[in-house]
Order: sequence, then C-alpha cells, then structure tokens
Amino acid sequence: MPDTLLTVDAVTAGYVQDLPILRDVSMNVERAKLTVIIGPNGAGKSTLIKAVVGLLSISKGTVKAEGKDITGLSPDRMTDAGISYVPQTDNVFRTLKIQQNLDLALQKQANAAEKLAELYDRFPVLADKRREKAGSLSGGQRQFLAVAMALAANPSLILMDEPSAGLSPKAAEEVLDLVKQLTGQGVTILLVEQNVKQALKRADHCYVLAEGRNQIDGPAAELLEDPALGRIYLGGERRVPA
Ligand SMILES: Nc1ncnc2c1ncn2[C@@H]1O[C@H](COP(=O)(O)OP(=O)(O)O)[C@@H](O)[C@H]1O
Ligand SMILES: [Mg+2]
Repeated sequence: MPDTLLTVDAVTAGYVQDLPILRDVSMNVERAKLTVIIGPNGAGKSTLIKAVVGLLSISKGTVKAEGKDITGLSPDRMTDAGISYVPQTDNVFRTLKIQQNLDLALQKQANAAEKLAELYDRFPVLADKRREKAGSLSGGQRQFLAVAMALAANPSLILMDEPSAGLSPKAAEEVLDLVKQLTGQGVTILLVEQNVKQALKRADHCYVLAEGRNQIDGPAAELLEDPALGRIYLGGERRVPA
C-alpha cells in the first residue's frame, strides 16, 4: 500500500472570491518520493502550492498531511506541521549574509548550532561564503541556500516552486540532483518544474495540470514516453472532468 504523506482532495481555490483558479484538483504525495507537477504557463501550479501552504484560501476540498486536516492552516503553522515551502522568487534575504540567512531559518531550533554545522557540511559552498551577502551568490548557489533554509526546520515535506528557473542548464541539473538526493534521504518533495524532461528523469510520480485542472498523472518514467503530454503542452488538448 502506498504511504501517502500529503493528500490534496478536490481543491478549489483562487485569489479572488468566486473566481477559482484551481478546480477540483486532487493529488497524493507519497513519503520519501519526488512528486513533480508540470503544466503550461498559467496552469495553476504555483497557485496549488500556495493553496497547500495556506497562502490563499481554499473554498472547497481538503488538504491533509500525515492524515491530519491542514486545510487553511496559516503559513507560519505549516512549519509545525512539518511542511516547508521554497517560493520561486525572493526565497533568500539578499542583503543579509549567508550565515544570517541560516541563523534566521534556525532561530526556532533547539539544536541550532548542530543543525548549522550539518547544513554547512551538506553545502560546503555556503560554508565557504558564509560571510558574504546572499545577493552575491550565483543563481544555483542561491537555490542551495533557499533549500538549506527550508531544511533548517527538519521538515518531512518540502514544496518547491521551479527551483531551476533562470539557471544555466548545468546549475539546473545540480539543483534537481540535490532535490532527488533529498528524497533518497527520506525527505518528501512536491516540486513544480518547467524543465519537464530533467524533472521527469528524476521524479517518481508526475501530475500534469492545465487551466487549473488535473489532466493526467502517472509514474514519471511512463509519462516521459506518453504522447498525451505533448498534446496537452503544445497541442492545447484538455481533459474535461466527467
Ligand atoms: N496574485 C494573483 N492574483 C490574481 N491572479 C493570479 C495571481 N497569481 C496568479 N494568478 C492567475 O492564476 C492563474 C494561474 O497562475 P499560476 O498558478 O501562477 O500558474 P503557473 O504557476 O502554472 O504558471 C493565472 O491565470 C494567473 O494569471
Ligand atoms: Mg508558477
């Protein structure tokens, strides 16, 4: 039986009341797996992640983590529920030093010093640059810092919104490799990606969204070969709900 950590069940949500962006979106995220959400621009991928972490209100449906209803929990309570969120932009404090960014992320941790040493071990490049401002990091290094900050809270689930956006192909692969590595170490990840091939090569399961609705989903390796993917992306094909 699958070991589901996060369940999104028939969620309808949007930014303005009575103008839903997501309609009846459902998904399951299995423990210690990499689940990826792909879909054309404006599909509602970022909106879904924001709805899960409590940044916008859900008008219908439920979100459960570890079997507990977390629908509408405020973003600051999500950390207590074991959930970290890495936004697509502005995910580090650029004018602060790397060390200060990590101190902020660790401020509620009892074993902050130990955890900091652990994060520096994992990300030597951040250790080397600890006294430099986060704004001076390369795009890829900045994503490493954002992930390190997310890891500071010892989350069981991390939601990431397009961490490879705007990076060179090499840096994008490094970030996606890191994401994959984390799931190998037991962290569950729900990843939004526009880098479809690279994401599917590493993911366990994939959901395709378009126009705020579920389209297809399946094991990532199978979807990589599925011609329906191209029809949804490039051909504008849409699966209408029954
Ligand atoms: N802050 C916002 N206020 C109102 N509408 C928004 C906002 N952000 C996104 N949208 C709309 O929601 C839809 C889905 O956007 P988004 O979730 O960002 O798509 P994706 O991440 O899949 O590219 C788009 O039509 C977009 O215009
Ligand atoms: Mg987006």
